Amino acid sequence: MARNLIVGNWKMNRTASEAPSLVTRLLELVPAQLPVEVVLAPPFTSIPAVAQLLAAANHRLSLGAQNAFWEDRGAYTGEVSVPMLADLGCRYVILGHSERRHLLGEQDEAVNKKVKAVLRHGLFPILCVGETLAERQHGQTEAVIRRQLDAGLDGVAGQELKNLTIAYEPVWAIGTGQAASVEQAAEVHRQIRSVIGAIGGMAAGGAEALRILYGGSVTAHNIGDLLSSREIDGALVGGACLDPEVFAKIINIAA
Ligand code: G3P
Repeated sequence: MARNLIVGNWKMNRTASEAPSLVTRLLELVPAQLPVEVVLAPPFTSIPAVAQLLAAANHRLSLGAQNAFWEDRGAYTGEVSVPMLADLGCRYVILGHSERRHLLGEQDEAVNKKVKAVLRHGLFPILCVGETLAERQHGQTEAVIRRQLDAGLDGVAGQELKNLTIAYEPVWAIGTGQAASVEQAAEVHRQIRSVIGAIGGMAAGGAEALRILYGGSVTAHNIGDLLSSREIDGALVGGACLDPEVFAKIINIAA
């Protein structure tokens, strides 16, 4: 497994008709064999089109989703299950994104059910945690991160954690152009590693083996500094991944 993981979270952008041009251009700019793992996470509606392009290109880019429901099937209007995503070739699923927590009211308990469903089906959850500006200003960052991890990973066996990735996304850095400093991010990543390590039963290598991504205004200008920290194992990229020229620069710097 490549150490660095770069994930492009498209959020609610690019229709199924618009997606192919973005991916086609990215495939032109990024070498097929990469020493860094790259995941594209388009909206549900664009996953089939992107999956078809990646399969045809025989490229190392992986496919991810931005959410999933915890039941496999049933009367859950509007939801998409993990088996449905796996059937389309998704390997990763972003869970607990702050936009779902703060805009859509997603609670830790729901995130936990989703983490367990993704693990149950052999896919790789990317669990997002992060504090708001007010929580940081009131010195609550560590408490918030600890709560989100403890609740989000409740009932997850230690040996399952080898398939888990954590994304630290300070809410105040998302979409603002104001990324956390390398030290701010590294400090929280150390806290995350400590909390995960305390969960016990960690896979070989323990919490050190856990990949922790940083997300929040990542650009081609700051990715190099961020990855210079041994605490930061990659990035969860939002706006910058929608421009293939910029996202390719981020990937090639991370490689
Ligand atoms: O999931 C990544 C996202 O929240 C970061 O967004 O636009 O600040 O890179 P952005």
